[in-house]
Amino acid sequence: MGKSISYRLVTSMKWQNDTREDPKPCRENDHGKFEITRRDGQARLGKLHTNHGIVETPCLLPVINPNIRTIEPREMWDKYGIQALITNSYVIWKHEKLKSVATSEGVHSLLDYPGMIMTDSGTFQSYVYGDVEVGVEEIVEFQKEIGVDVATMLDVFTRPDMTYHQVEKAVLETIERSGPSVTKSENMMLNGPIQGGVFPELRAMSAKMMSDFDFSIHPIGGIVPIMEQQKYTNLAKIMLATKSNLAPNRPVHMFGCGHPMLFPMLIAMGADLFDSAAYVLFARDGRLLTPWGTERISELEEWPIIMPAIANLTPADVRKMNKEDRTILLSRFNLEVTLQELSRCRQAVRDGTIWRLAERRSHQHPALREAFLWLTTNPSKAILEPLILDEISASKETGEEKGRWEENWDWIVSAQQTPRNGGESWGGNDTFNRPHLEMAKRNLHSRWKPQNNGDVIIFHGASAPWREKIGDLVERIYSLDYELFIQTPIGIIPYGLEDLNPWAHIEGPDWLWKSKPDFIKIQHDLEQFGITGRRIIPIDISDTEELHKRVFEILEIEPPERDTERRKLRQIVDKLCVLYNLEYMDANKLCEGASFVMSTTNRIRNVIDSEGIHLFSPRLAEGGLSLTVDGARKLHSLRKEGIPDRFDAGDFDSHTGKGLAWVVVDDDAEPYVKQGRNVMHGFILACDGWARPDETVLVVNKAGELLAIGRSQSTPSEFATFSKGIAVKVREGCP
Ligand code: GUN
Repeated sequence: MGKSISYRLVTSMKWQNDTREDPKPCRENDHGKFEITRRDGQARLGKLHTNHGIVETPCLLPVINPNIRTIEPREMWDKYGIQALITNSYVIWKHEKLKSVATSEGVHSLLDYPGMIMTDSGTFQSYVYGDVEVGVEEIVEFQKEIGVDVATMLDVFTRPDMTYHQVEKAVLETIERSGPSVTKSENMMLNGPIQGGVFPELRAMSAKMMSDFDFSIHPIGGIVPIMEQQKYTNLAKIMLATKSNLAPNRPVHMFGCGHPMLFPMLIAMGADLFDSAAYVLFARDGRLLTPWGTERISELEEWPIIMPAIANLTPADVRKMNKEDRTILLSRFNLEVTLQELSRCRQAVRDGTIWRLAERRSHQHPALREAFLWLTTNPSKAILEPLILDEISASKETGEEKGRWEENWDWIVSAQQTPRNGGESWGGNDTFNRPHLEMAKRNLHSRWKPQNNGDVIIFHGASAPWREKIGDLVERIYSLDYELFIQTPIGIIPYGLEDLNPWAHIEGPDWLWKSKPDFIKIQHDLEQFGITGRRIIPIDISDTEELHKRVFEILEIEPPERDTERRKLRQIVDKLCVLYNLEYMDANKLCEGASFVMSTTNRIRNVIDSEGIHLFSPRLAEGGLSLTVDGARKLHSLRKEGIPDRFDAGDFDSHTGKGLAWVVVDDDAEPYVKQGRNVMHGFILACDGWARPDETVLVVNKAGELLAIGRSQSTPSEFATFSKGIAVKVREGCP
């Protein structure tokens, strides 16, 4: 029954048939550290360093009941490549036989599992059965005694039906227990659960205060009943309030969350670890997990998705099996589906498409859709108000809802990058609310400035590349006093940035481009650019026949000569301002007397300054700019700010025009970085508040001297807290 088949469900595992080698312990210095290896906004791929191997995240820790092992832990390691699992130390502590084996041989031997073992503490049992008999320090000591890799303190479970004051008391009690628990854990990794019921402000308080203790991981607790009731909007609120207030260098674990349908959204919000018994519990009940929901075996004629466990069987075959065999088989199926969806999520993070996956998955279930809409548009005040009244009244007990959503959304947006490869695929109205598009627009709106006082021309009716359709026309208009924009489905873009992603590569139906100009939206966008009270001239470019004639008739002038140099200059100056955060005055000065090396398709390849020095090269695929060492030196010399001395994030707009962000490294890193080696976390002293993942940064030493050009991998708060992994990918050292 699929037993001879082997799977490759974890990225770095080799395909193999029988046994898998035992893991190697992490390096002593790395024990307990978490590093980010790839990211997509707040979603991250990471490595957690433990004594029983390096665990790659996001991942699922299957729950093992030490009394009933439906799928053997050894099989999970060998066959499924599962690097970590979770069991319950309280259950072991309560059962004499289990306790005796665990204390004499250790938990790894008890379960016959070589990978990382996390244990829970008995809190969930106290939620299900009432009190537990074990003490706060006693359970931590016990977990240490049996050799677990990651233990859990005895937190106080917060139920969704508890009042604000009951929850507050439980949160404070958990915080009070943290000190003694951490002390007892010594050098064992310890979970510090975040409680707070359905009250975002208590979740935020819990996250802030728990971050002050030396925990290795922060599980989000008290969410099982919320998920059982499918209150996914509550879940999203809890997740955001927690994540945006936690130390970012600690992995976040979703206690009891194992339905694959929830993975994309939670991973997009920064979840790293999941645990669940759902694969067995659902199987016992004859239910199948899928990325789209849950199905009953009793109702299936065909499989919703083929997995190795059931590849040679029909649903009818499975129904004929005895209950025990059926449970084992469906548990395997459920586990395989769950692991498969996690693989899909990890690949989406690598591809920069995790938000899109969450967006698509949100349509699978009305409650998930509601949560996603809350997340992206805060509709509690608009369309969905009647559906979430209970949450609104819950939050009324404690006050304001609005400011919090905006803050949380900001936290998501501020870590976004524009994917460099591929187009932006249209997904209906959700497209407008994608956080990476919002980040791109914020940069554009705050950094781009009009350079003319005349009328505004809006070209509309055609998709990119626009230069092929209207390049010649634009070069003629450039000698006149007009501000030129192109209408795209996600807003207007200045012509100088016509090849810049995401605006230049939107994959969508033709009618999107052909739609008539929406003057309300255009006016709104123009206001964002600081343009008001000007005449707007729409020009339809869907048909380029006799376009010049038409346009100059509208403008009531004779066609002027082409001003190619002005067009090129504007293009580079606009990019320097939007992509490198320069002020227009500085960008213009930098380009004074510059010459341009052109490609065979008449696009700028290199920008050479008046002294013949190569400064920048536009990237033709996505409209970005690459900086040379000489260009970096010029930008470095334009700096008006002091040398950064902390990691403050500050307010987004207040950073406009201040140039590329600086990252200050310590003396130890200096010689390596100068030679072009990456900047590693742990060697950074300070950074500018506007350093963002994927943006170009200048790496400097304590004295502010330029060491390298690089691409930031982190936000300021990540620079401040991480101690392992690449912080800045250095493109070139500046010796
Ligand atoms: N398992 C599921 N929820 C919880 C929780 O809130 N705390 C602990 N310790 N374990 C859990």
